Amino acid sequence: MNKLIIAIDGPAASGKSTAAKLLAQKLGYVYLDTGAMYRACALAAKRTGISMDDEGALVELMKDIQLEISFTASENQIFLACEDVSAEIRKPEISMLASSISRLKIVRERMVELQRRMGKEGGVILDGRDIGTVVFPDAELKFFLEAPVELRAQRRYQELLSKGQSAIYDEVISEMKQRDLQDSSRALAPLVAAEDAIIIDTADYGIDALAEELYRHYTQRIEGQKSIRLAPYSGFCFGVRRALQLALDAAKEYGKIYTLGELIHNPQVVEEMANKGVIAAKDTAALQEAIVVIRSHGISKEQLEQLSAGNNTIIDATCPYVKRTHELIQKANEEGYPVIILGDPRHPEVIGIKSYGDENTTLYEPGQELPALLGKKYCVISQTTQKLENLEALVNMLLPLCNDLKIYNSICLATRQRQNASEALAQESDLMIIVGGKNSSNTKMLANLCRKYCECLHIETEDELEESLFKNKWRIGIAAGASTPENRIIAVYNKILKINGSTRFASKLDDIPLFKEESC
Ligand code: DC
Repeated sequence: MNKLIIAIDGPAASGKSTAAKLLAQKLGYVYLDTGAMYRACALAAKRTGISMDDEGALVELMKDIQLEISFTASENQIFLACEDVSAEIRKPEISMLASSISRLKIVRERMVELQRRMGKEGGVILDGRDIGTVVFPDAELKFFLEAPVELRAQRRYQELLSKGQSAIYDEVISEMKQRDLQDSSRALAPLVAAEDAIIIDTADYGIDALAEELYRHYTQRIEGQKSIRLAPYSGFCFGVRRALQLALDAAKEYGKIYTLGELIHNPQVVEEMANKGVIAAKDTAALQEAIVVIRSHGISKEQLEQLSAGNNTIIDATCPYVKRTHELIQKANEEGYPVIILGDPRHPEVIGIKSYGDENTTLYEPGQELPALLGKKYCVISQTTQKLENLEALVNMLLPLCNDLKIYNSICLATRQRQNASEALAQESDLMIIVGGKNSSNTKMLANLCRKYCECLHIETEDELEESLFKNKWRIGIAAGASTPENRIIAVYNKILKINGSTRFASKLDDIPLFKEESC
């Protein structure tokens, strides 16, 4: 998770340290009590008998001061020359001395330098007077806690009594007023709320409610800073949804059914389907008198003949867009056009389309050299999930070589819409997460498209997401291939939210903000 620097400033007893500790524990951050550091300086001066007005002696003291602080989410221990002075610095007389010594330039310079060094990696909550204004003016989240002085004095008075120390309320409040004045009127780094600080009157809250309120602001800030958007048209296309439904219905009816090859290119879905009785057969040889669902990619003419010869009951779930390419290639051949199929030659859909063509059919894989042509008359047909730019590139190569070129833009509508939307989102993202089977051609295509515009990661499941990926990535886009189920997209979105510090989660696809762009 991206870890922030959180500044909590405010006057004494405004609730800073209690709230800071609770928030730090909740976020797994560390807490740094910067007041303790000024208190330790004051104690060092007191022990050496240096007056708060003796600037020369204080400058010398600060040169050799051996101050160390060990800090976790819930505890700060402060050491002066290796001696643990954590309890001693809490004494009332040290409060006023700390306020006085903190006016000095040399003291502030040394402390601020130490504080910056300790906090620079983030994942830290610092409380003090000048954290949001001076120490970390760029802190991602700043609070300024305040409360009426009477209430703060009452809190401090009770705190002293509970520690077994003697205290007089009137003295506590008068000292607190004096300290407020001194801290807020000094020339250097006075106590003042940073312009961008969230100001909270802690009189309105109990301790837990205050910590909750800070946490609420934290999640709002995190979510406000990060946008996580889903590309429209992500996930199952009509053809895949239909094939899955047909297969599931058949499995319910017959108990066990077969698909030729995996139903879709998504290992997780294939496994789920197998558990429901949808078994992927490697080839037609094993299929005799079985119920066989033809997947959305379609199959070759020969395979169809073999299935029929084996007396199988065939349920045809070939995507209508793919079916159309089978018809187009036959039509083109009838009209005397040899066909070039644009696509991945190993992909079952392309193998299927080719089987419906004549002996002059050529395969062309994007990025390859154009094969030798038979003449000047050709027809181009595309795998339904190709990128339009691949089709354009092939046509551009063919145009000068042909005088009769027929082009079927058989890239399906769902693919075009998904690609356009993902590409538009990638242009406005710092990181794109593409969800889908590693063996899914259309998902790989999406990843390649998006990679042109921003960092892009192709994952199958949310388990592949790591915190480090999201560092300094504010605009996160998600897109998913045609064979990616909704629940996978939701799980990925929820993991991204979690990694980025949000407590929200989506329970349905509609809960995920969609990227809206005119070109989608
Ligand atoms: O938070 P505290 O009461 O422990 O702080 C003691 C004094 O230290 C406070 O009165 C002013 C000073 N201080 C400061 O000047 N700047 C800080 N960031 C923290 C404390």
